[in-house]
Amino acid sequence: MLNVETITIVGARPQFIKAAAVSRVLRVAEGVKEVLVHTGQHYDANMSDVFFDELEIPRLDYNLGIGSGTHGEQTGRMLEAIEKVLLQEKPDWVQVYGDTNSTLAGALAAVKLHIPVAHIEAGLRSFNRLMPEEINRVLTDHASDLLFAPTKTAMENLWREGIYEDQIKLVGDVMYDAAIFYGKKADQQSHILNKLRLKSKEYILATVHRAENTDDPVRLRAIFDALCEVACEIKVVLPLHPRTREALTKTGIYGTAASRICLTEPVGYLDMVMLEKNACLIATDSGGVQKEAFFYRVPCVTLREETEWVELVELGWNAVVPPFSAHVMADAIRSRIGSFGGVEENPYGDGNSAVKIVDFLVNASR
Ligand code: UD1
Ligand code: UDP
Repeated sequence: MLNVETITIVGARPQFIKAAAVSRVLRVAEGVKEVLVHTGQHYDANMSDVFFDELEIPRLDYNLGIGSGTHGEQTGRMLEAIEKVLLQEKPDWVQVYGDTNSTLAGALAAVKLHIPVAHIEAGLRSFNRLMPEEINRVLTDHASDLLFAPTKTAMENLWREGIYEDQIKLVGDVMYDAAIFYGKKADQQSHILNKLRLKSKEYILATVHRAENTDDPVRLRAIFDALCEVACEIKVVLPLHPRTREALTKTGIYGTAASRICLTEPVGYLDMVMLEKNACLIATDSGGVQKEAFFYRVPCVTLREETEWVELVELGWNAVVPPFSAHVMADAIRSRIGSFGGVEENPYGDGNSAVKIVDFLVNASR
């Protein structure tokens, strides 16, 4: 009889969503026990609790309460606290998601204790080493035993870096699983359009939170100038990440932005999905939101210099517009409203990625 214990490490908003999709399958797998650990990287109720409540994520076994800090400080504190949990639980696997500091700390703590690591969303690359996420991804991939690649491009990136082929499993994207499962719930449960007095396809949805955009006042100003310019013609709604709120306040941009753009607190996932589905265009620097735009067939403009999700650009669903000139960004946004989108092909699997991941984990444990 199989008796496998796996520890899931989460800490930041997108990880709650990804882990929710996998946990739903993991918890009903025979002979498998999941222990859920939250590092506490995200801690505001609207950055954390809301996801546990509405996605019905199982009860947390540990909340490490690490909170914010510089990279070294935050990652170091996580490493120490996760190690203690691993020594106590002695799991067979540690599962980590994506590319945050929680991901790296989880992988590093585990590999140092010779506990096998499964990395979900492995192989993503921006090839921009200035991004903290890029360092986290590369190091996590090279510390992992099982690497679950969401796309063919991600798998090829891992081959190129010399990772053994039999460690890499192309399973599709768990965010697509989540979009299918929770997309229906959003239609039934979200009232956000009424609450914000929005009409379907008559507004643009925007999100901005990437460090390279928020921490550079010139870029931040250019992005918000562009959004304000577009907002003269069509409503722009932007749920504000706490990092961005802080940066806008510090640079004195907040007042003008708030007078032109509908700035809201971060919203829960079901409200976010509803906002995405009904937008006429999405402008974002988020990884997850770029894909969700495609899942709901909404044209997308990515306000970055590059993207890891290159398939969306190749298929015509996404345009990458570097955040340098406000006018160029504003023109790109305006010109893509109501565009036909791209080629009808889904590079993110069949919506059963979680099932595949759990099957591989179980088989690798026999
Ligand atoms: C992190 C990830 C990023 C991911 C994002 C998802 C890293 C290096 N970055 O970025 O890859 O895309 O999460 O949203 O792991 N804050 C609050 N309340 C919170 C959380 C954060 O006020 O609940 C503020 C704090 O001032 C904090 C800042 O936001 O210093 C940044 O938070 P942090 O978790 O360090 O990075 P994110 O920008 O959220
Ligand atoms: N999201 C959300 N509420 C918000 C903003 C984003 O639920 O106010 C969801 C979004 O739908 C996606 C995920 O959070 O599933 C993306 O997270 P984020 O943009 O913070 O991080 P990234 O994907 O860039 O790492």
